[in-house]
Amino acid sequence: MNCFQLIKTVLDEAYAAIPGDTTAKDAAISEALRQLSAGYKNLLEKGCLDYSDPARRFAYIFRYTTSHANVVYERLSSSRRLKELFDRDKVTISCVGGGPGSDFLGVLKYCLRMEKRPELKCQILDRDPAWGESWSDVDDKLGPSFRISTVFFPFDVTDPAKWRTFKKHFAADLFTLIYFMSEVYALRDKAEEYFATMMDQMNENALLLYVDNNDSRFTGWFDGLAKAHGLEVVNSSEGWEQMPNHEDKSDLQPYLDKFGPPKLKTNIACRLARKPG
Ligand SMILES: C[S@@+](CC[C@H](N)C(=O)[O-])C[C@H]1O[C@@H](n2cnc3c(N)ncnc32)[C@H](O)[C@@H]1O
Repeated sequence: MNCFQLIKTVLDEAYAAIPGDTTAKDAAISEALRQLSAGYKNLLEKGCLDYSDPARRFAYIFRYTTSHANVVYERLSSSRRLKELFDRDKVTISCVGGGPGSDFLGVLKYCLRMEKRPELKCQILDRDPAWGESWSDVDDKLGPSFRISTVFFPFDVTDPAKWRTFKKHFAADLFTLIYFMSEVYALRDKAEEYFATMMDQMNENALLLYVDNNDSRFTGWFDGLAKAHGLEVVNSSEGWEQMPNHEDKSDLQPYLDKFGPPKLKTNIACRLARKPG
């Protein structure tokens, strides 16, 4: 099973969970796609969106998870340090704000394509518990040839009473912050303590991958925190990225015909940071 086939199984489950007949489901998804696009243009003022509605979760996974997973895959494919990480026997990743699956799916796509077979432990941390259901049986879907476990932690980076309960994820080899700091930027006064603690708690030589909208306000926030908390930025880039037109997108049918393509072009800023050893 490739990554898009895995996403298709999750989309089928999400589609079944949307109330109503096919016409009502499709109308709800089209409206959710419109709301998400409008919401992301307004993140600086309004902040994070609500993903509790099943049609909105379907819309996110269909339009954005597919594209963001590819962005993560591209970062892994082009970084010596990240490639070396997946040569190990066992890798633990903490996907912060990773509920929709994009972060670990990008890692999975890389491992499947490059035939890397580490024992992969994916810790998904997100405010919305409904995402947890989507990825709870990835190990069963992939079968025994790939050693992967996914564990979901419901936590809120703006609420220390909630995130302080989850300390084990600080011991990861790789942290991912994919389109997440922009989501909580409007609440940065409350969220900053979490990011500062995470950076302080990271193990020596652990890596942190940041990808977000190419906006100096988000990037400046990340860069400032990384500097203040002793991380070394080892890779830095900005610019447009195009999703490759490769064959496995057709695995998303019949949804492609109904809802158009996943997000194809994106203007991003990327950082790979490391805790000095
Ligand atoms: C734009 S999505 C990014 C998801 C994923 N990393 C990706 O690239 O597709 C932002 C995610 O952050 C989660 N989120 C929003 N506010 C949060 C908070 N305060 N604490 C934890 N997660 C939050 C949302 O539930 C959503 O899954």
